[in-house]
Amino acid sequence: MGKYNDLFQRSIKDPEGFWGDAAETITWSRKWNKVLDDSNKPFYRWFSGAELNTCHNALDRHVDSGRADQTALIYDSPVTNTIRKYTYRELRDEVALFAGALRGLGVEKGTTVIIYMPMIPQAVIAMLACARLGATHSVVFGGFAPHELAIRIDDAKPKVIVTASGAKEGAKVLEYKPLIDRAIAESHHKPEKCVIFQRDLVKAALTPGRDVDWNEAVATAKPAECVPVKATDPLYILYTSGTTGKPKGIVRDNGGHAVALRWSVENIYNVKPGEVFWAASDVGWVVGHSYIVYAPLLTGCTTIVYEGKPIGTPDAGAFWRVISQHNVKVLFTAPTAFRAIKKEDPNGEFVKKYDLSKFSALFLAGERLDPDTYHWASNLLKKPVIDHWWQTETGWPITANSMGIEQFPVKPGSSTKPVPGFDVRILDTNGKEVPAETEGLVTVKLPLPPGTLPTLWNADQRFQESYINPFPGYYFTADGGHVDKDGYVYIMGRVDDVINVAGHRLSTGEMEEVVATHKDVAECAVIGVHDGLKGQVPVGLCVLKSGANRSAAEIQKELSLLIRDQIGPIACYKETAVVKRLPKTRSGKILRGTMRKIADGESYTMPSTIDDPAILPEIEEAIKGIGYGKK
Ligand code: COA
Ligand code: AMP
Repeated sequence: MGKYNDLFQRSIKDPEGFWGDAAETITWSRKWNKVLDDSNKPFYRWFSGAELNTCHNALDRHVDSGRADQTALIYDSPVTNTIRKYTYRELRDEVALFAGALRGLGVEKGTTVIIYMPMIPQAVIAMLACARLGATHSVVFGGFAPHELAIRIDDAKPKVIVTASGAKEGAKVLEYKPLIDRAIAESHHKPEKCVIFQRDLVKAALTPGRDVDWNEAVATAKPAECVPVKATDPLYILYTSGTTGKPKGIVRDNGGHAVALRWSVENIYNVKPGEVFWAASDVGWVVGHSYIVYAPLLTGCTTIVYEGKPIGTPDAGAFWRVISQHNVKVLFTAPTAFRAIKKEDPNGEFVKKYDLSKFSALFLAGERLDPDTYHWASNLLKKPVIDHWWQTETGWPITANSMGIEQFPVKPGSSTKPVPGFDVRILDTNGKEVPAETEGLVTVKLPLPPGTLPTLWNADQRFQESYINPFPGYYFTADGGHVDKDGYVYIMGRVDDVINVAGHRLSTGEMEEVVATHKDVAECAVIGVHDGLKGQVPVGLCVLKSGANRSAAEIQKELSLLIRDQIGPIACYKETAVVKRLPKTRSGKILRGTMRKIADGESYTMPSTIDDPAILPEIEEAIKGIGYGKK
């Protein structure tokens, strides 16, 4: 038996011993009564009775133990031509001051704060400042439209919103203030204050009485100390797409999160304290929370906040430049970023210009890593390329090639093996385990390890309905896949209405709700269709109301603008096919799966429950008309 097997077996048979040992890497102000409290299943709690402060663990303790002058954070912004480094001491001091400023605005233990920020250090400072006070932050990705922000404001009910005057997206300057104003006008809950960080690229006109200038607030603030919180208190809420228009508020606790992330850096990524970890993502996504902010800092690493793109800022060598300039040991990003680089620089000319000798491995997640992209990246870099699978809900990887434990040979298309703590099981629709090599529904036997979601924000019942009730005793991932005879896991895609567009998780159900509000649309379906660059893109099929005398081109343009306005540009909704009717089962359920297969050019079997088989040729024709389907 290898090291991985031993560790994995122990994590499943003796989770309290396993995670109790791992918890020794964290500084607690009070030790736990119980490592795993299972008295209220399925709501498992880790380290109940313990107290700690996540910000203390991410900053202060490193300052106090010899890392004060080590670089904690490098802000690398090709879009503003800036590189700024913060030592652990500088970052701790800036966080303490901003925490003092927030305290002055009434933020305290238990208060919720929304952070809507571009990729600048102030986003990280705001998150850590909340953690320092024991407040709960909820970061909203900047690519979401005001309507989405309003939904999150109404659910999280923040006292304060922290934002910036704007962002630079490639060559475009985006103003945030109008977006914030629109969101607050739309939301029922009104935050008391907005703290605005003014950037040189655009200045925001402050709303008197509500808006506070970041620098002015900090100028008069006193540094705040770390406030101990319960291990089970919420560190953050991160909204993610579910199957409806109401996003799910994933809750992350303080204690289990700190333990799991600290463990993952050395055991999964094989990165040690003092080394440079770069997650080229955005703080608005879970990858950003876990691997730009918390995990590297909890470990005493140097993290990079990169405000740029894989291509165009200025070229397809951007990632190699950052890796070589800052001595990055591990890069974590989404496969779509590599597909973009491959498209722009298929022969990998740019990589030859840079010294990547300190670079040890590329980790990819967020969507399926197609074997083509895997081979291209692996041939180009001549370093391990590791596919690993996880979800916003879990907060860290469920399956991976855990490089710090034991490196397994890569099988392209597989994200390798379950990470210790995750007892992955493949079930059929009746909840029975299927044999190896058989496609099924991917679940994780309860309890989930520390750091995963204890529940949904103010929605215990929805938590149970979404994740537990489908297969009692298991966490249902909503992914389909299989395990091969060597124990390698293959994740084949979602079995619900969630899609991944350029690594961004979105809900087609939510898009349908928006499309249905168009005055001429009688009925619609939105499906996720394969895209060579972005993995998937949404495509709509609409039936128009009788008498709606509109061209398909007009409808398409209006729906694209509507989705952009209501959900955001990241939805990348462009194509709509106008059809006379939608294929349905006899009980009236729209056959989205069949339409998706048609659009992807896959063969499909006629569903036995279809109401009228004659519709499918019409659908094939309409889908062809917008450039999808069998070529
Ligand atoms: N704020 C505002 N707008 C944003 C945004 C943000 N943070 N991020 C993206 N957008 C906008 C883009 O500007 C674009 O707008 P446009 O339609 O007006 O041009 C739109 O949303 C779509 O963006 P995207 O899908 O990212 O396409 P792109 O062509 O700009 O870039 C990639 C393509 C592949 C380079 C880019 O998607 C990428 O780097 N992906 C990696 C994603 C990632 O890191 N995911 C995190 C999981 S690890
Ligand atoms: P998110 O919550 O945004 O991280 O998205 C989670 C979903 O992305 C998962 O449920 C999967 O469908 C998909 N996903 C993430 N990583 C992978 C991967 N390595 N392979 C296949 N799918 C993935």
